[in-house]
Amino acid sequence: MSNYHIKHLEEYYQIYRKSIREPENFWEEVAEEHFVWRKKWDKVLSWDFSKPEIKWFEGAKLNITENCIDRHLVTRGNKTAILFEPNNPDEPAEHISYNELHERVNQMANVLKDHGIKKGDRVCIYVPMIPELAISILACARIGAIHSVVFAGFSSTALSTRINDSDCKMVIAADGSYRGAKTIDLKGIVDEALESCPGVESVLMVKRINSDIKMKKGRDKWLQPLLDEASTQCPAEIMDAEDPLFILYTSGSTGKPKGMVHTTAGYMVYTAYSFKNAFQYRENDVYWCTADIGWITGHSYIVYGPLANGATTVLFEGIPSYPDFGRFWDIIDKHKVNQFYTAPTAIRALAKQGSELVEKFDLSSIKVLGSVGEPINEEAWHWYNDNIGKNKSPIIDTWWQTETGAIMITPIPYVTPTKPTYATLPFIGVQPAIVNEAGEELKGNQVEGRLCIKFPWPSMARTIWRDHKRYKETYFSTVKNMYFTGDGALRDEVGYYRITGRVDDVIIVSGHNLGTAPIEDAINEHPAVAESAIVGFPHEIKGTALYGYVTLKDAGEGRIHDNVRKEINQLITERIGPIAKLDKIQFTQGLPKTRSGKIMRRILRKIAERDTSNLGDISTLLNPECVQDIIDEAL
Ligand code: WT7
Repeated sequence: MSNYHIKHLEEYYQIYRKSIREPENFWEEVAEEHFVWRKKWDKVLSWDFSKPEIKWFEGAKLNITENCIDRHLVTRGNKTAILFEPNNPDEPAEHISYNELHERVNQMANVLKDHGIKKGDRVCIYVPMIPELAISILACARIGAIHSVVFAGFSSTALSTRINDSDCKMVIAADGSYRGAKTIDLKGIVDEALESCPGVESVLMVKRINSDIKMKKGRDKWLQPLLDEASTQCPAEIMDAEDPLFILYTSGSTGKPKGMVHTTAGYMVYTAYSFKNAFQYRENDVYWCTADIGWITGHSYIVYGPLANGATTVLFEGIPSYPDFGRFWDIIDKHKVNQFYTAPTAIRALAKQGSELVEKFDLSSIKVLGSVGEPINEEAWHWYNDNIGKNKSPIIDTWWQTETGAIMITPIPYVTPTKPTYATLPFIGVQPAIVNEAGEELKGNQVEGRLCIKFPWPSMARTIWRDHKRYKETYFSTVKNMYFTGDGALRDEVGYYRITGRVDDVIIVSGHNLGTAPIEDAINEHPAVAESAIVGFPHEIKGTALYGYVTLKDAGEGRIHDNVRKEINQLITERIGPIAKLDKIQFTQGLPKTRSGKIMRRILRKIAERDTSNLGDISTLLNPECVQDIIDEAL
């Protein structure tokens, strides 16, 4: 089909204009020509951002796994669908063909059915980066169960909160995971979590590290013997276009995590279309995204997007530094990777190691480099471009969110001229707007403000699981009739977008989205703590790291402070996970507050950034005197 692969900038503008002027016609054509439907839609789009209610392809019937697997069997049955590269480089890579994927997904789907899982039930998946993770996801989709993947680096508290929020009946887990030279005991975390999850009836266990774990009778079962017995045929459940496909939690600026709900047809159409065009994927290319499937990047661009295109997608279990910092380049060389998609934090960590490790490998297969998760700084961009792309492979700086489901602003490689630190142009069908504090759209170029989206796109999250009110408040109440992203952005003189960072209380650390409130809640659980506030500050590798201001009930010092620091980070690790640990903890006598008692984070942020020349007017604070103390005692 002509409008599937975009070939040059003029064509991009043509297609873009069509997608904006006639969105229904545009997406209908894409949907008709590139997917298999059990029944076509009655209506392409209906929407109302004031409710908000968004429906794409209403009335259509389909199963996403028929699009990601079955339809490829005739032409691509023996092609590698998933190329699994284990943590240990001496363990052989596994090539899972589309035929084999079909069999394994069906077997898993049958095991789920045998355990009482039906259409609409929620299944929590807490599995590390091994093929069973992708297979579990697809098995849920096969039978219409709603998967909720929890990143296997989250703590037991984070896991149980997520299981309970969506009433999961089943957990699929692994005994443990490999992380470089270490192993992590996942079953212990699951057992702890399930102490407070009465709704979970069964736990299916994948064996990965062969650790000696305890199985709870009547609840836990080893998966492999069940799979061995299961049939390799399982009819696909016929789903409505707007049936939920999955829930994925993301942190909010306040309170508990938000279970973003993605539905079936729109998500499929947009992730597949964006995968093909944003990566310029061609048949026989080998594509690799280094994200974890526990995040949206992995859902959309390791599993669904690539498989819907019949692509070969690499699934890497390990970490960039094991057995040494050359591992990524080794894998690119070994599997002749054509599209490589990673995060700025990884690029910075690898750049720090110099280019010697890179030069040992042949990276000539690379055609496209991708970046995602946080703004990519100029230095990292150039290192990536010079050393990995050898100045010939375009870098696509892709901006998007868990909520958007798929890429929203990105260059199209070999089509859009790139510009360091700019995500450049909206993807097809996306209508961004820059809005000022008063909620007015700033038209024209050379403007800066809050980034919003004016019109629905097919893969947008439809609601927050069982909390539609919060969905409306968070995304549709800041600016009338627009989706508010929570990010700031500018549009330059040619219309290119640059994302300037979060404008709310979400902090992006090493590409992970962390809310300040849950971290502060964890700190405040410490018996010695009176109150706390978290802000971000610039960090060489992480991009942004966490700086905590903590007021103790009784001002201690020296050893007491050292102990409390350690205990605070332990608490955070237990409640959320090690990714949320604080890099700096400063003890304070008090925190600057407005007269209504709200902590003035803006001031704390400036102090953490060592930029105290312009703190603005602090005279209206309830306790302006504490500001100088905090500056004097800053770390
Ligand atoms: C937030 C969303 C997109 C999947 C992974 C993260 C930040 C993401 C970029 C980029 C600047 C970026 C934004 C966004 N972000 N990509 N290319 N340039 N910032 O998904 O965890 O939902 O986080 O990540 O602040 O709002 P997420």
